[in-house]
Amino acid sequence: MADPLDTELTETARARLVDKLLADGAITSPAVEAAFRQVPRHLFTPSGISVEAAYADHVVVTRRGPDGKATSSISAPWLQAAMLHAAHLQPGARVLEVGSGGYNAALIAEVVGPHGTVTSIDIDPAVTAHARTALDTASYPHVAAVHADADKGWAAAAPYDAIIVTVETSDIPPAWTDQLTPDGVLVAPLRMRGHTRCLTLIRDSGHLVATNALVCGFVPIQGAGANPVTPHHLRGDDVTVFVDDPVTEALDLRALPAALDGPRHDAWSPVTTPPATPFDTLQLWLASQPHPHGLLAVDRQRAADLAPQNWVACPALLTADSIAYLATRQLDNTTWQFGAHGYGPRAAALTDRMLDLIGTWDRHHRHQPGPHIAVYPTGTAPSPTNHLRLLIPRPHTTIAITWTSNGHPA
Ligand SMILES: C[S@@+](CC[C@H](N)C(=O)[O-])C[C@H]1O[C@@H](n2cnc3c(N)ncnc32)[C@H](O)[C@@H]1O
Repeated sequence: MADPLDTELTETARARLVDKLLADGAITSPAVEAAFRQVPRHLFTPSGISVEAAYADHVVVTRRGPDGKATSSISAPWLQAAMLHAAHLQPGARVLEVGSGGYNAALIAEVVGPHGTVTSIDIDPAVTAHARTALDTASYPHVAAVHADADKGWAAAAPYDAIIVTVETSDIPPAWTDQLTPDGVLVAPLRMRGHTRCLTLIRDSGHLVATNALVCGFVPIQGAGANPVTPHHLRGDDVTVFVDDPVTEALDLRALPAALDGPRHDAWSPVTTPPATPFDTLQLWLASQPHPHGLLAVDRQRAADLAPQNWVACPALLTADSIAYLATRQLDNTTWQFGAHGYGPRAAALTDRMLDLIGTWDRHHRHQPGPHIAVYPTGTAPSPTNHLRLLIPRPHTTIAITWTSNGHPA
């Protein structure tokens, strides 16, 4: 029998979490609120995790690979809530969850109710075994936990009103679309030139269109769909540029490390930002150009001289021998300025190009919701009509990112 003190502790922690999610605007429907109030998150966390950590609005890593990197986790509650809302779940819905753990599947089961069905699929048998035990303990024996590579979906329980993908993917395998009902919703964290956005995808005459895009981070997909970004080490492990598209991968970057031995070229834009204000559309805008692009990761201690805007994933324009990447500097307590740092013989031209792009973003896209994103089966995407449409080819699909300003190409 449960210790009444433990029960009080977990119930208080759970209520506090739900109140926070409501106050933050992460929970916006009574059905999702009721699910979060009902499902005991601590029963799904690994042993040794405190009640406080189990009910924090943070990710809980549950498994790591041999390199120490996370391969499985219970996602942060704010993100789970956002994805539940995005999937437009109705009572009685049939749902496939890609990437398991049990907790999110239990939340889905609460929202779809006794007439709905939930299948949760994971490539790691230890994850599905843990999910099965935790789901049974938490009184969700009717939720199926299946061990398989989700690349082929799970035909046995299809069609689905919603497929919620909880692992980062660079492509949409055909099975996911095929196993959706005609009005079904696919919620998936799709990686585009290194940037991951959780897309809400619906059908639109033979392809998928995103009705919403949320900045997010997930562990990468394994199995048939695995497609890690390519690291190019420019200064050992201290400075690395990650490449995620065939145009850039075709570039011979062997001369690039030598560029870092030269002086840094700095250029500053008139465009500024208040502190602590997101500018994720700028990052995606820089990544959406036909120009070769990478994400720069810099060790903050050992390569402090590079001073990128983001030490983990900073948008960079590349040529075979030169690089320019986004930078910011503080002007006063309320103002930060955008700019670019560059290295190599073409640093000045590349930083100028980045400043132009920052200016265009500021004038035409900054206060807009972001680009139109569509996913076409390979070979069916219309050709770009102007330079504002980037096509990213993947094995099964082509991702099209189109920027418009007030509905018109800018
Ligand atoms: C972020 S975790 C899932 C979190 C979970 N939905 C929860 O309750 O919060 C991502 C999971 O995706 C799984 N995964 C990775 N590649 C997969 C694949 N090809 N098919 C199915 N599962 C996969 C990993 O093993 C990992 O457990």
